[in-house]
Amino acid sequence: MKHSRVQDRSVCAGSLAFLSEYNTLLSTPIPFANRMPYHSTAIKSAGRLFARQNFLLFTICFIWLPILVNCHIHQIAPGKVHRHNLKRGGSNSNQSDGLSIWQPRPGVKWQIQLEEAVENTSINADVYDIDLFDNSAKTISAIHEHGTRVICYFSAGTFEEWRSDADQFSSSDFGSNLDDWPGERWIDINSSNVRRILSARLDMAQKKGCDGVDPDNIDGYDNENGLGLTTDDSIDLLKYLALEAHSRGMSIGLKNGGDIIGDVIDKMQWSVNEQCAQYNECDTYAAFTDVNKPVFHIEYSGEDVSYKGKLKVRVTEAKKSDACHAEGAEKFSTVIKNMDLSAWVEYC
Ligand SMILES: *[C@@H]1O[C@H](CO)[C@@H](O)[C@H](O)[C@H]1NC(C)=O
Ligand SMILES: *[C@@H]1O[C@H](CO)[C@@H](O)[C@H](O)[C@H]1NC(C)=O
Ligand SMILES: *[C@@H]1O[C@H](CO)[C@@H](O)[C@H](O)[C@H]1NC(C)=O
Repeated sequence: MKHSRVQDRSVCAGSLAFLSEYNTLLSTPIPFANRMPYHSTAIKSAGRLFARQNFLLFTICFIWLPILVNCHIHQIAPGKVHRHNLKRGGSNSNQSDGLSIWQPRPGVKWQIQLEEAVENTSINADVYDIDLFDNSAKTISAIHEHGTRVICYFSAGTFEEWRSDADQFSSSDFGSNLDDWPGERWIDINSSNVRRILSARLDMAQKKGCDGVDPDNIDGYDNENGLGLTTDDSIDLLKYLALEAHSRGMSIGLKNGGDIIGDVIDKMQWSVNEQCAQYNECDTYAAFTDVNKPVFHIEYSGEDVSYKGKLKVRVTEAKKSDACHAEGAEKFSTVIKNMDLSAWVEYC
């Protein structure tokens, strides 16, 4: 079927509004009946009854039945997954751009894994942030089956030479290389070509069934980007991405970007933060929990250690305590990870 979830949702929401308007109409006197040229009240009310019953029959046959069939096929059936999600997702939905957008609550348990494709889809968390490109629609649907919502990660502010759409960028889109990340460059987030590529990535996210997106590297202004990017450029990009994500029925969050929180927080459903405990800036990101939106918080306190010839990850009690008791982070959803963002995780 060609129907996307977004279209189904808007069709059904629209239809329900339509039905409730018709109900109101049915319970009020029909103007048409009043205008009938009958003189006796008995004839008048019989005429009214006749008009009303025809009206009812008409709406049942031509409006209610088709709508009920349509909603059953397109909404109730995939809703099996949705009901699962609502059971655990810790969420409210929000009406934004005319669509129902998933709004998770502060403190929900989350996990993030960006290294390689997900293998274990049965994780013990409400929300799973995973790589958009590396994971299939099948994997995402398996995660949904376990009642976990899926956020799809992609880079919105850098070029990554290994991505399947890398050949779509033009040389004028490129800025400086990222020092610590080989094969990655800052891009001109103002360019219409870049925006087109980002929209195509959102199409991919929608097709794969992502509940929301986690666009990374939106803070070029805070780095040697080689393009003269400013905070205004980032604000404009985030507003664009929010509109595009919401119109596809997906939520979106702000990744880091502490300087622009005030300008975009209304459009964002959460914050994803790296290392606010380490840099002592959790207070800044608490702006999200203050308005009842979660902060998905990562501290990279996990250390790779060799144990009996195998590589393991561990965290010391002292580092765990620092990560878990940062000032301002009381309501955050904190995970302790290693730099590779493998499946390893430690909770507070
Ligand atoms: C998947 O992860 C969950 C939560 O960590 C764990 O309980 C379960 O045993 C894992 N399943 C497999 C097959 O590794
Ligand atoms: C991005 O576009 C805006 C308005 O179109 C402009 O003011 C700004 O200078 C541009 N930024 C870059 C880095 O080109
Ligand atoms: C719903 O979204 C609007 C606009 O994005 C925002 O202003 C409002 O606070 C949100 N409401 C809830 C309950 O999250």
